[in-house]
Amino acid sequence: MCGIVGYSGSRKASDVILDSLRRLEYRGYDSAGMVIVNGRLEMHKEKGELKALESILPDIEGITGIGHTRWATCGAPSRDNAHPFMSNDRSLALVHNGIIENYIPLRNSLISEGAAFYSETDTEVLVHLIRKYHQGDLHAAVRRALEDVRGTYAIAVVEEHSPDIVVARKENPLVLGSGVGENFVASDVTALLEYTSDVLYLMDGETAIVTPGAIRIFDAGGAAVEREVSKIDWSLEEARKGGFEHYMLKEIYEQPHSITETIISYIDDLENLEILPSRPITGMKILACGTSYNAGLVGKYIIEEMAGISVQVELASEFRYSTKTNQCPLVVLITQSGETADTLAACREAKLRGCHTLAITNVVGSSITREADTILLTRAGPEISVAATKTYTAQLVSLYMLASLLAYNNRSLGEEGLRAMKKDLRSLPNYVSAVLDRASSLRDAAKMFKEARSAFFIGRNRNFPTMLEGALKLKEISYIHAEGYAAGELKHGPLALLDEKTPLVASCLNDHTYDKMMSNVSEVAARGSPVLLLAEDDDADCETVADLVIRMPPVKPLFTPVTLAVALQLLAYHVAKERGMPIDKPRNLAKSVTVE
Ligand code: G6P
Repeated sequence: MCGIVGYSGSRKASDVILDSLRRLEYRGYDSAGMVIVNGRLEMHKEKGELKALESILPDIEGITGIGHTRWATCGAPSRDNAHPFMSNDRSLALVHNGIIENYIPLRNSLISEGAAFYSETDTEVLVHLIRKYHQGDLHAAVRRALEDVRGTYAIAVVEEHSPDIVVARKENPLVLGSGVGENFVASDVTALLEYTSDVLYLMDGETAIVTPGAIRIFDAGGAAVEREVSKIDWSLEEARKGGFEHYMLKEIYEQPHSITETIISYIDDLENLEILPSRPITGMKILACGTSYNAGLVGKYIIEEMAGISVQVELASEFRYSTKTNQCPLVVLITQSGETADTLAACREAKLRGCHTLAITNVVGSSITREADTILLTRAGPEISVAATKTYTAQLVSLYMLASLLAYNNRSLGEEGLRAMKKDLRSLPNYVSAVLDRASSLRDAAKMFKEARSAFFIGRNRNFPTMLEGALKLKEISYIHAEGYAAGELKHGPLALLDEKTPLVASCLNDHTYDKMMSNVSEVAARGSPVLLLAEDDDADCETVADLVIRMPPVKPLFTPVTLAVALQLLAYHVAKERGMPIDKPRNLAKSVTVE
C-alpha cells in the first residue's frame, strides 16, 4: 500500500523522509521517491527498494520535503510511475495515495490545454490541475483542483521557495505529527513515532497547511478547524497494526475501503473495459487455488445467474489433467499474489489450448500480469496476514463487475440494469461496515467453538461457496477441522459425524433457499449439534432451531456472499483468538506458494 511522508522543520529533510519511508516499508511497495525544497524542487525517485533510492540520493540541504513509497495500481512499477510528480514548470510537486476515478477525461482536457504527461498514473493529473488553478495561493489551488476530482485521495503538495506542505484527504488516511519547530505528515503513524507522539488526525474532506511552526486545518468549506492533539503511546509493532491486535483483524476492518478502491477504479466505464476476447463467450472456466478458488466458485453462481454463461471452476493444480479437447473462449485465473505456481502453470496451459486468459490479481507487476492476456486488478493493498480476507472480498467484487460486463455484452443486462448494478456495487461497502459494526456478536459466538474438534458449515446456492470459505478460514487459523458443504449434501454422509461437540454454522438468509435451509438445519439440531445461524434482522423463525443467531444486515441476495464472508472471517478470527493461536502466521502455511 502506498505510503506518504512529509517534513517541514529545521533538520535535513531528506534524512527525515528516508527514515520515515523506511518505517512504512512493512506495507509493501515497488518504488519510492522524494522531493526536497532546496531553492528549487529537487526530485529523486527509483524503482525497487528504498536502498535503490538511497544509492542515487545526493547530499541535499533542504529542510522541507515530501516522500512516497508506491504500491503500483494504475501503471506498472517503474521509475516514471513512482511519486512524486512535478508540474511542467517544476514549481509544484505532489504525492498521492488513492485513486482518481475520472483521471482519463481530466488528463485529456489538461493535455489539450498544453500539459505534458510522463507517467501512466492517475495521480499525475493532480499536479497539473493544481498548477492550473495556482494563482499565488497553493492551499486555494489545491482546494479548487479537488473540486474537479472524483475518487479517493490523501495528498501532500509542496512548491519551490516555500516551507509549506499542503495536504488533503478523502477516504484515505493522513495524520499530522506535531513537534517543536518542526511538523510532519504521514499516511500512517508508524512513520512519525521516531520523531513525535503528538498527532492530529485529518478527517475526510479536510485540508491542512503544515509549516515548521504551525499546523492549520480547514474543513471542506475552507473554515479553520480546531483539532485536539492525540498522544500515541503505541510501540512500532502496535502502530503497524493500526491499534489492532493482529494484521488479520486490521485487514478485515479495511474491507469497506478496499472494496471501494476496487470498485471505483473500474465502475464508471465498466461497459468499455477491454478485458474480454472478441469472440462470443459461450462458456468459460475459472481456475484458482485456496481462497481464490472459493471466490471463483462464487463467481460461477453470479456469472451464470447474471449472464447465463455456463462456468466451470477448476482447481488450478488439476487443470492440466482435464480434457484438452474442450476449448474455451475465456479462462479466468484468480490469484491475489499473482505468483502461485499452480495458477501460473494453469495460465500457460490455457494459453497453449488457445484460450483468452484474464487474470484477477492484487499485485501489479506480478508474474501473472506478465503472462495473462488481460488483467482485472483488485485494489485491496498488500495483505500481511497469511489468511486472505480483504483480497477475497476484492476478488468477489471484481467478479461482480466481470459478471456485469459479460451480462451487458450478451444483453442479459440492459442499460437500466447496468446502472442499477453500478449503484448497488457502490453501496456495498456500507453493508460491509454494517457487518463490522456487529462484530461483538461474532466475538461472543466464538465461545461455542473453543473446545470443538470439528465444525461444519452449510449453505445453498451462491452462499454454498461462502461456507466453504468460512470453513477454510476456521481451519487455517484455529486448527479446528472444518468442512463446508452444500446443505443438501449433509444427509448423504457428513450427518454421521455430527454430535453435541460438533458445531454447525449455517447461512439462512431471506432468499429462495430459506425453507430448504431451515429444514436442513432442523435435521442437525435434532441430533444435538450446537447450531449457529447467520440470519437476517427480521427473521423471527430462525430462533426456534438455533442455539445462537448472528444477525446480518439485509442486503440484496446477489451480494450476500460478501457480507457473509466478512462475518465468517470475524468468527474464525475470534475462535482462533479464544484458542490462543498465532493468527497472522498459522503453522505450515505460506502467504504465497511458489511450488507446484
Ligand atoms: C496460499 C495462501 C492462501 C491462498 C492461496 C492462493 O495457500 O495461504 O491464503 O488462498 O495460496 O493464493 P493466491 O495468491 O494465488 O490467491
